[in-house]
Amino acid sequence: MDCVKVLLDGGKGGVESGLKNVSSHCSISEMDDYDLSKLLERPRLNIERQRSFDERSLSELSVGLSRGLDHYESAYSPGRSALDTPASSARNSFEPHPMVADAWEALRRSLVHFRGQPVGTIAAYDHASEEVLNYDQVFVRDFVPSALAFLMNGEPDIVKNFLLKTLQLQGWEKRIDRFKLGEGAMPASFKVLHDPVRRTDTIVADFGESAIGRVAPIDSGFWWIILLRAYTKSTGDLSLAETPECQKGMRLILALCLSEGFDTFPTLLCADGCSMIDRRMGIYGYPIEIQSLFFMALRAALAMLKHDAEGKEFIERIVKRLHALSYHMRSYFWLDFQQLNDIYRYKTEEYSHTAVNKFNVIPDSIPDWVFDFMPTRGGYFIGNVSPARMDFRWFALGNCVAILSSLATPEQASAIMDLFEERWEELVGEMPLKICYPAIESHEWRIVTGCDPKNTRWSYHNGGSWPVLLWLLTAACIKTGRPQIARRAIDLAESRLLKDSWPEYYDGKLGRYIGKQARKYQTWSIAGYLVAKMMLEDPSHLGMISLEEDKQMKPVLKRSSSWTC
Ligand code: GLC
Repeated sequence: MDCVKVLLDGGKGGVESGLKNVSSHCSISEMDDYDLSKLLERPRLNIERQRSFDERSLSELSVGLSRGLDHYESAYSPGRSALDTPASSARNSFEPHPMVADAWEALRRSLVHFRGQPVGTIAAYDHASEEVLNYDQVFVRDFVPSALAFLMNGEPDIVKNFLLKTLQLQGWEKRIDRFKLGEGAMPASFKVLHDPVRRTDTIVADFGESAIGRVAPIDSGFWWIILLRAYTKSTGDLSLAETPECQKGMRLILALCLSEGFDTFPTLLCADGCSMIDRRMGIYGYPIEIQSLFFMALRAALAMLKHDAEGKEFIERIVKRLHALSYHMRSYFWLDFQQLNDIYRYKTEEYSHTAVNKFNVIPDSIPDWVFDFMPTRGGYFIGNVSPARMDFRWFALGNCVAILSSLATPEQASAIMDLFEERWEELVGEMPLKICYPAIESHEWRIVTGCDPKNTRWSYHNGGSWPVLLWLLTAACIKTGRPQIARRAIDLAESRLLKDSWPEYYDGKLGRYIGKQARKYQTWSIAGYLVAKMMLEDPSHLGMISLEEDKQMKPVLKRSSSWTC
């Protein structure tokens, strides 16, 4: 429990700010190919980091692991950082914002221990709130920014403990009433119960059986794989991902989402409420959030799966799915001015293979707001595409993850960033970042949400503003070479977050009001801020959570008979 000690000691410098010193080495020759400091207007920092696992291991050491994707990420991996230039005092020093120390303190307060080991962080540490609901649990998705903060601060153990603990939970038999869930399902959350008399710790997990709506979290398994890669990449410790347990865990998750069925689309069919938006919000079908995470998890797994008999089968399935999925998403989910105009002029009732309007979308179903919202410059992946239904809403998480995973082509990625600039007021307003845009109101709200009083217009999941999304925006900004956008958003967050006690979300068209039912000291608001700050200060951290465009897979693509575009 070093971390707790660090906090209580209340020492100076790194300790005071909650930061541990990260010392590791990499040589000048390793950082030649991409000068990340060019992306930043800020002075360079003298932070030395470990070489990332893919440089040392995937390419050099491990014959067993995929030779693929991570080669192309070296530009952003810590070891290739262009930041370790010779120290030159004042130019390289930076004063942490006073909020940073506070944030670390709050983050450490949220740590959850199991038999003496830290295994996660609770969702919110809000003692003032009358109802705890399930905010005293460790949510898989909520832990991701906490995990990244700890990794970036050179504290990987808690992340390893979390990955192993959730892996054990995956092994549990999961039932909802009399129905048994797929073996690979990962929990939405778990809770550690301490028995002070018997001095024992036990865990209870929720796989959807106690969640509102009884929906299993599809995103948990994807985040688990993404986090395993982040851990491996940041520590260079390949041994965890290579254990038979982790390999099996990945295969079980993949088996769930790569299984054959009646699908005609490569996207993943989902129930409402299966992800961060865990209440009915009309995102059933093929929500962008899940498709982006699916894509990213497939790519991360591809880099970590062993080429043994069991692994190989999955590798082949992943490669095929990635081709089909990227084609489908880039063609049918993408919307910009030109595409909108094309859809507006669609003919309907087209049969056969020559159809242009493949899903028979009726132009009259295009909502009015989208014509005004769409700038001439910019674009985004829309919320959902299924037969005769395009959900034109913009969702933050799906679009940012599409950039980070390189589901978005470089042109699409920069168009998404253009949209942020063009529609700053709508998407960022006074508090980064809207979870989706626009809100649904009146009759539509009644029908779509089932009259959900928590999801009224411009609140919570219905157009509310979520500070946690700041880390995703920042990562996307760094990847696309637009750090100034992130800085602007971070400045906004810094003017409010601490003063408002780290709310879970804000309400209103501009995100100006603390959310009606928002928790205070919401852990992922705190961790999201820290991750955003650390990434902007040292952009080489981006490698943990970003995948470069996959150039190696393209030749395979062209040879594939299923490739028809
Ligand atoms: C809410 C959010 C969900 C989050 C949970 C815990 O239910 O919708 O995304 O994981 O709170 O913070």
